[in-house]
Parts: sequence; C-alpha cells; structure tokens
Amino acid sequence: MANIMIVYDSLRGNTQRVVNALEELLAAGGHTVKAVKPKAVDTAEVEAADCLLIGGPTYHKSLIKTLEPVLFQLEKVDLKGKKGAAFASFGWSGESLGIIEDTMKNLYEMDLVAPGIKVKQTPVAAKAKKAVEPFAAKILEAL
Ligand SMILES: Cc1cc2nc3c(=O)[nH]c(=O)nc-3n(C[C@H](O)[C@H](O)[C@H](O)COP(=O)(O)O)c2cc1C
Repeated sequence: MANIMIVYDSLRGNTQRVVNALEELLAAGGHTVKAVKPKAVDTAEVEAADCLLIGGPTYHKSLIKTLEPVLFQLEKVDLKGKKGAAFASFGWSGESLGIIEDTMKNLYEMDLVAPGIKVKQTPVAAKAKKAVEPFAAKILEAL
C-alpha cells in the first residue's frame, strides 16, 4: 500500500472534479490518498509520500497563480527519484500541464510514471472520471 499525495488548486471546480476522481480510483487500488490545496501543503508530508501528483488549471495561458509559490516551496523538498505525475484542467490551450510536468521532471528530477493529462473542463463528474481512468491505471501499475 502506497501513500499518495495530491497537491492541486481549483478556482471553479473543474480540477476539483479531476482530483475527486483520482482520489476514488487510486484509493480503490488499496492506497492511501491525501489531496491538499496550496495553503495546506506540508513539506514533511510531501517528502514522506511514496508518490506525488501535482495538478492545476490554466488561466491566461499560464498556471493558476496560487500554485506558483508551491512549486518553489517543493524545490526545498528532496523529490529526486520519487514517483509522480502531473495533471491539468483546461479550456482551450492548457499550458499549465507543461509548466507543472517540466518542473517535476527537470527541477525535482522525479520519476514520472505516467504522461501528464489535460482534462477538458466539464461540470459532469462522470466525464472527468472517465478522462482520468487510463491515467490512474498507469499510476496504479507503477506503485
Ligand atoms: C478568465 C479565464 C481565463 C482562462 N484562460 C485559459 C487559457 O488561457 N487556456 C485554457 O486552456 N483555459 C483557460 N481557461 C479555462 C480554465 O482553464 C478551465 O475552465 C479550467 O477547467 C478551470 O479549472 P478550475 O475550475 O479548477 O479552476 C480560462 C478560464 C477563465 C475563467
């Protein structure tokens, strides 16, 4: 059983639906999952996790502002070789995914166990879940 940490933010609920689906699918695989927004990030908890997922939406062709300081905060944590993956919610361009994924790969030197996913904004939880299923399956395979 692995300890999975999800660090994310969501302004209007779309990324939240992705996170809810991830929590459900990964917990169903027998793992402990904890999802936190920027203010609740505890670096010791992140360091202790077996797997770290980071996700956030795109606003004005960039990462949601509230996640930027978290990416700096996590630079101080030893994440080298830790399993992880990035995810994003988007409307039409989705730049946030590349920003998060590049940081995880190049700065943190994490072991990205699944290619990042961009989930198109939707108010329908079932649609978000369906979009997330193959991503969650890859993560489960790697744990
Ligand atoms: C003011 C505004 C700007 C946005 N800018 C972009 C953008 O540049 N590219 C994009 O793909 N989506 C953009 N979006 C869409 C959001 O990324 C999308 O709605 C996302 O699902 C929001 O996630 P959240 O509900 O978790 O905050 C924008 C939405 C708003 C309201």
